[in-house]
Amino acid sequence: MIFLVGFMGSGKSTVAHQLSKDLGRPYIEMDECIENQEGLSIAEMFSQYGESYFREKETEFLKSIQEDSIVSTGGGVILSEENREILSKSTVVYLKASWHTIVKRLEEDTERPLWKGDVEEKKSRFKERLPIYEQTADHIIVVDEKTPKQIAQEIEVCL
Ligand code: S3P
Repeated sequence: MIFLVGFMGSGKSTVAHQLSKDLGRPYIEMDECIENQEGLSIAEMFSQYGESYFREKETEFLKSIQEDSIVSTGGGVILSEENREILSKSTVVYLKASWHTIVKRLEEDTERPLWKGDVEEKKSRFKERLPIYEQTADHIIVVDEKTPKQIAQEIEVCL
């Protein structure tokens, strides 16, 4: 299993897709699978049942993955100790994007429940998580200004 972790907007899904094509291994988009299982969008889960409900589903899903695949995780997957423990049994790649890159990419985003409101709040979430991504990762790939193809190739060299 290869888990791609990183902040919202770091390109996890696109890169996972590229890696899956390159390596001929299945691709799993965690958020999308959870949405399908629940029959609700992430935004609906947050607004109807709260973030903690989504986090429970996220951990349940993480535990259920069996197939050796390329997994694109949600940006908050590294927050729980239980999740980090599960991740530590596989290869974890952190797609490290700068704050500037994230802001540029998520400029138009209205879907993500944790990308709303005050810029300082978003920035402090970014700063708080940075060291956790770094500690959880086996490999750190700086993604700013690179294409998904280039990033996937960099990852492939590390494997
Ligand atoms: C979250 C990131 C989202 C999604 C949920 C919570 C987070 O995934 O799992 O909105 O806590 O950073 P992406 O990283 O794919 O946007």
